[in-house]
Amino acid sequence: MQHLIVAAHPVEDSLTMSLTRMYVGELVRLGHDVRVHDLYRMGFDPVLPAEELIDGRNAHIRMVDVLAAQEDVLEAAVLTVIYPLWWMAMPAMMKGYIDRVFSRGFAYTVEQGEVRGLLGGRRAAMVTVSGAPLASLTDDGRWQTMQLLQDVHVFGAVGFDVVGHLHFDEVGPALPPADAQADFARVREFVRGHFASVLA
Ligand SMILES: Cc1cc2nc3c(=O)[nH]c(=O)nc-3n(C[C@H](O)[C@H](O)[C@H](O)COP(=O)(O)O)c2cc1C
Repeated sequence: MQHLIVAAHPVEDSLTMSLTRMYVGELVRLGHDVRVHDLYRMGFDPVLPAEELIDGRNAHIRMVDVLAAQEDVLEAAVLTVIYPLWWMAMPAMMKGYIDRVFSRGFAYTVEQGEVRGLLGGRRAAMVTVSGAPLASLTDDGRWQTMQLLQDVHVFGAVGFDVVGHLHFDEVGPALPPADAQADFARVREFVRGHFASVLA
């Protein structure tokens, strides 16, 4: 099965990028084909330029990087996005990827004022990291709001079947260091739970 992993974190030895490597490794061990877009290391340009916005439905005026990224989305049966929560949202780099790659005419269309997703038949998964404990985020509704705006509004709206959201909380410089073994166990359980081995 073809997987596309899109990760956004500027620091290569961050927990986010370490989780990305664990996730990819586990998929590969299960026999999946994996393509990784490490947006910062690729130098992805997250700024949506005027010409893409004005005539975004005409592929010929889109930038080569967007066309290549869209090709990879179409080829993948599963898209996994991995990023830290910054201000309870995705980093600007990831948001810019969505703005540019999930363009009108490619990811969605609008019919009689209603958005219709064009990426149906594909699955999506999220892996996120926060400084705050998950319990404090769910207590006042910040977690549910974030999931509604990101998992449902972005990925669900364009047609993905969102199969799961794996979250790592209480991560930050002033907090106790992550337990890499425990993190790996959670990544492994999530990947194995959602994506069976193609080798069996
Ligand atoms: C700009 C910025 C904004 C952040 N906003 C939040 C936030 O709204 N809620 C939260 O729980 N953590 C927030 N954090 C903390 C990070 O989510 C988390 O501590 C950090 O990503 C740890 O993972 P890493 O090693 O992969 O960076 C923020 C961090 C930064 C740099």
